[in-house]
Amino acid sequence: MSPDTDRDPLFQYNDPIFADERLLEITHLPEPGRIVGRDDEMQSVAEALNPAIFGSQPSHLFIFGKTGTGKSLISRSVTQRVIREAERDGVEVKYAFIDCGEQNTEAAIVKTIGQIVNEPDRTGITIPDRGLGTGDYYKRLWQCVDACTDVTIVILDEIDMLEDDEVLRKLSRAGENRRISESNIGIIGISNKIDYPDQLSERVKSSLSRDELVFPPYDANQLIDILEKRRDAFHEGLLTDDVIPLTSALAAQEHGDARKAIDILRNAGRLAKKQNDSRVTESHVRDAKEKTEADRFSELIEGSPQQAKAILFALTLLTENSSSDEFPTKVIYNQYQQIVTRVGLDPLSERRVQEILQEQNFLNVIQSEREGRGRGKGAHAKHRLLEDPDIVKKVLLRDSRLSGLGK
Ligand SMILES: Nc1ncnc2c1ncn2[C@@H]1O[C@H](COP(=O)(O)OP(=O)(O)O)[C@@H](O)[C@H]1O
Ligand SMILES: [Mg+2]
Repeated sequence: MSPDTDRDPLFQYNDPIFADERLLEITHLPEPGRIVGRDDEMQSVAEALNPAIFGSQPSHLFIFGKTGTGKSLISRSVTQRVIREAERDGVEVKYAFIDCGEQNTEAAIVKTIGQIVNEPDRTGITIPDRGLGTGDYYKRLWQCVDACTDVTIVILDEIDMLEDDEVLRKLSRAGENRRISESNIGIIGISNKIDYPDQLSERVKSSLSRDELVFPPYDANQLIDILEKRRDAFHEGLLTDDVIPLTSALAAQEHGDARKAIDILRNAGRLAKKQNDSRVTESHVRDAKEKTEADRFSELIEGSPQQAKAILFALTLLTENSSSDEFPTKVIYNQYQQIVTRVGLDPLSERRVQEILQEQNFLNVIQSEREGRGRGKGAHAKHRLLEDPDIVKKVLLRDSRLSGLGK
């Protein structure tokens, strides 16, 4: 951009660090040439979706793998390629990408798919944001799917957050049950919980035939390749030589996580910019790693269900108000009961609370240890908060229902 003296001097017009920061946004969909080390996985997704190119029924597919292994990216990328190929033969494929962390009820999901697929000019149908019962949203969805598509691919990301899996059964059986007659629906379910299928209801388990795929973590060299292909997010020559290898090594420490690698690189650039430094260096990367981990921790808690937050709040209060830092399930449960009464949530059973504590344990937010020798497993466990209670509390109080507890 040439300097333009007419511009308002209050603002900055040329980014000193980034040539195109969007390349490092997590939701950015890179072109196929920038996708590294996922050829086999792409091939498998392509095989499942292949029939869609001819307007036929694709296979349903579940994809598992840890955070940042490219599950969402590969699903979206292959789906778009299917859409493009189908178009050449005059076949209309549409796709709806649903984040079940944000939309986890049956009605919300059915409504959203309908709104994405619907072309009001063609159908004369409107799908209002509210006011219809779930059954009516389904009816309109079936009409829109039939009228506007040959194949609809529904990607349910973070599918383990679904409140009720009935939607899977209805979507997968729509053709068989003659809800739709002119078109087909294919489902891609994505989760970082490999045991998610155990959690499905018997009805769904038996009715939903599907392929399953597991995405392995990346190794440090693959992470280097992934970042190298996005180097042009920065102005040329601005990264010191150690930046990409160090970022990759740090992101590979727990498991090879491309999301973490990209987040660290972007945050390193932002820090350099904020500090008015002319190059991005190793020290920016180290600081960016800290920031990335803190951000992710907040997100992790914020994205948890309200009941889990209430339980975590109980443990946080206990930790704050006691000299001990380990608490038995029973003690946490008593504190939890007081909290849910105050905020008007229905209390869960002690057994369920125990299970949620174990899940939180899994998420590295708390650590649980079994008391005594083997007896009674969960009921005698003790739990300890792993993060600073001030930070945890601050994040929890952002929840609309829990916010009152801060007063
Ligand atoms: N193989 C890859 N090549 C290029 N970029 C990748 C690759 N895998 C993941 N990414 C990038 O890393 C980030 C996280 O990937 P994502 O698909 O969201 O992971 P997941 O859904 O498994 O958590 C995204 O920005 C994505 O573009
Ligand atoms: Mg994802």
